[in-house]
Amino acid sequence: MQRFFITVGDITHSQVDAIVNAANTTLLGGSGVDGAIHRAAGPELLAECRTLRGCETGKAKITAGYHLPAKHVIHTPGPIWRGGGYHEAELLSSCYRSCLTLAVEHGCKTIDFPSISTGVYAYPLPQAARIALTTIRDFLAQNDTLTQVRMVCHTESTAKIYRNVLVTL
Ligand code: APR
Repeated sequence: MQRFFITVGDITHSQVDAIVNAANTTLLGGSGVDGAIHRAAGPELLAECRTLRGCETGKAKITAGYHLPAKHVIHTPGPIWRGGGYHEAELLSSCYRSCLTLAVEHGCKTIDFPSISTGVYAYPLPQAARIALTTIRDFLAQNDTLTQVRMVCHTESTAKIYRNVLVTL
């Protein structure tokens, strides 16, 4: 996947058309990357999120980026890991596909993802990485308007797992 990259860093620093927020269904902020994005974007982000009236797990909604270097934030509530018997895999794949689709619909060419659901929502990282990477690969195989998609891992250890999964695809 030549348009896909795995990097280590803080997604609030990404200078791209859209960054993805691992949100919750209220879209009213939280901890983790959600908290970091809201802190960096400023209060106008929450004000716009309030107008969106929440978002279903696996779906995505888009806002401006405000004080972030990214033009847009695409908010997607990932599934909470509950053992694997509650369609978590399909829902996580749907998060990635919904964000990519929305990015293309809004003319975005570059998009950065965090590792959705693998923090507070406790999705096992190797399984989540495989779902993320196969969903992104399949989307890029069907779509050539995106020029760069990155997985921005917060730690080197997370990136290592993504890289290990990527080479098996
Ligand atoms: N940049 C990139 N990645 C980050 C950053 C950051 N600044 N901060 C955290 N992460 C990483 C975490 O290390 C983890 O790998 O984002 C990934 C997702 O973790 P969470 O932010 O905990 O998100 P998630 O597991 O999807 O849980 C979502 O947590 O913050 C609340 O409101 C949110 O209820 C929702 C839940």
